[in-house]
Amino acid sequence: MTTRYRVEYALKTHRRDQLIEWIKGLLAVPFVLHSQPHGIFQSDTRAPSLEHMAEEAARRYAEIMRDVEVMIDDHMALQPLSGVDASSNLPAINKPPPSKLKLLVPSIGPFFTRLPLEAAFKYQDRKRYISSRRFVSPSFNDVRLILNSAQIMAVTTYSSLHLATFDGDVTLYDDGQSLEPDSPLVPRLLDLLRKGVRVGIVTAAGYTTADRYYVRLHGLLDALAITTELTPSQKSNLLVMGGEANYLFAFDPAAAPHYLRAVPRAEWLTPEMTAWSEADIAALLDDAEAALRECVKGLNLPATVMRKDRAVGIIPEPEGAKIPRESLEETVLVVQRLLENSLAGRRKAVPFCAFNGGRDVFVDIGDKSWGVTVCQKYFEKQAAASVSSSSTTQQPVTIRPENTLHVGDQFLSAGANDFRARSVGTTAWIASPSETVELLDELADLMGKKLS
Ligand code: IMP
Ligand code: MG
Repeated sequence: MTTRYRVEYALKTHRRDQLIEWIKGLLAVPFVLHSQPHGIFQSDTRAPSLEHMAEEAARRYAEIMRDVEVMIDDHMALQPLSGVDASSNLPAINKPPPSKLKLLVPSIGPFFTRLPLEAAFKYQDRKRYISSRRFVSPSFNDVRLILNSAQIMAVTTYSSLHLATFDGDVTLYDDGQSLEPDSPLVPRLLDLLRKGVRVGIVTAAGYTTADRYYVRLHGLLDALAITTELTPSQKSNLLVMGGEANYLFAFDPAAAPHYLRAVPRAEWLTPEMTAWSEADIAALLDDAEAALRECVKGLNLPATVMRKDRAVGIIPEPEGAKIPRESLEETVLVVQRLLENSLAGRRKAVPFCAFNGGRDVFVDIGDKSWGVTVCQKYFEKQAAASVSSSSTTQQPVTIRPENTLHVGDQFLSAGANDFRARSVGTTAWIASPSETVELLDELADLMGKKLS
């Protein structure tokens, strides 16, 4: 049941996405003007037919999505070329003026592709009958799915997809579960690899050894090891990046029984990551641990603190206990604030990510923007090596943000870990593994059409 409490809770700023809320607000106007039930009974001949109302609403919704599409084009024309705001150090007079979209939605970030929102709306309207509804206005989920479709259309039309990265929990399997052999995602991930798309699983789950990742991902790893439909080079295009950006494993059919080969850090750390000193990492985790302990005490949480090599978190205790949602979010926001103001945090020597995992809270060293970047660089290096060792005329690949798609469930700006991936690639925001299945079907369909 949707209580007044739930509705109000969803309005809290840390639980809102400004762009989606803004688009939802725009669509509410034609909904009120065209779709709402009217006082005349349907049997009355003066009443407009349902089809007519739906057509009119669809036309107006599509027009609005087209207008937003054009505004995003304008925003892209004014944003700096790189995803990072390279203009931030320029004197004010040399900075490009903010776009209209930036003024209307101040939290808006960079876009790496244009978004065909009108076409995406029409696609989702055919699937979800948005404009046929008279009592329920276009919702947060409608807009989220339209944005996802637009992004999938864009990466297959305006650029090409070289790398797809996936979050683990809630994206590939239910929270805390594993990717089982009968998961419908297994054949779809294999299909991506078969089409030459590189795949990275970029999860917060931070384990130092391959066996633990095998437990979570065995359905996919076993299927990839035995299939004869993929070439060895396609098989080598799967990476697992754990602990956000801390442990890298490459798929290797020869590395039985877990099929994952640990890649030594020295081989994949970016130059910026090499500068994160062990002393700074330890200082940040010490501060995080102290802040988490304070929350456990202050909020009387049924939880215990878990310190790891590159992370610290609180997990429910005793087993089966449930930490209330509000307490999880409060803990994330408190810890985030304390860390930003701590000595280690103020020096900004090491990036960190504090997030609400649904049942637990973790602070990890690094974040998914680094995890996805490492996958981009790893695959670029691998492709360059195969070009130089082969006699064919293969081209080296550059995996730019517009060639990258990260799929995840955590995209709220505070206390969510997939959000950071937005700075290095395009993204799709799903809410369950079954939505990931639908998204991959949509993607396969578009890639198939492009090929034909
Ligand atoms: P993701 O959705 O794949 O990013 O996984 C997030 C979940 O992994 C968290 O909610 C935790 O339950 C679990 N987890 C296990 N180890 C770690 C860790 O070291 N850091 C963060 N999360 C962890
Ligand atoms: Mg997740």
